[in-house]
Amino acid sequence: MGNATAPIPSDVLDHVSIAVPDLEAAADFYRDNFGCTVGDVIEVPADNMRIAYVELANIKIELMQPLDAGSAVGKFLARNPSGGIHHICVATPDADGAAVAAGAAGLRILGEGGTRPGHHGRKLFFLHPKDCMGTLIEVEETD
Ligand code: CO
Repeated sequence: MGNATAPIPSDVLDHVSIAVPDLEAAADFYRDNFGCTVGDVIEVPADNMRIAYVELANIKIELMQPLDAGSAVGKFLARNPSGGIHHICVATPDADGAAVAAGAAGLRILGEGGTRPGHHGRKLFFLHPKDCMGTLIEVEETD
């Protein structure tokens, strides 16, 4: 790990996440064109979406299909109807500590301000893209 005393110490890019209008079509795209393995569809009712992971050797691509046009990902898809890169996700050993340290460093956290459990049960939070050079960054606890 680089500087382990940084507010959000990380040396792992866990996934890149892409919003897609049709999850099965997106999974087929990666299977058919790149020969990738794509995991089973995971329903994420808490976020009104369904997702699947393209499993590359060094990283995952998270495919997200929103089920609600009014959700954050639904609104993103309305602005980008054919889909697009939505966020990147770095992993850190202590997500609660990183959330506190990020706030102290002046980085805004979306939502309630702390971590919340992801569909996988690990804690995560999102940093405001305006504090991150226009990129939505998810921080999740190391697997
Ligand atoms: Co993600």
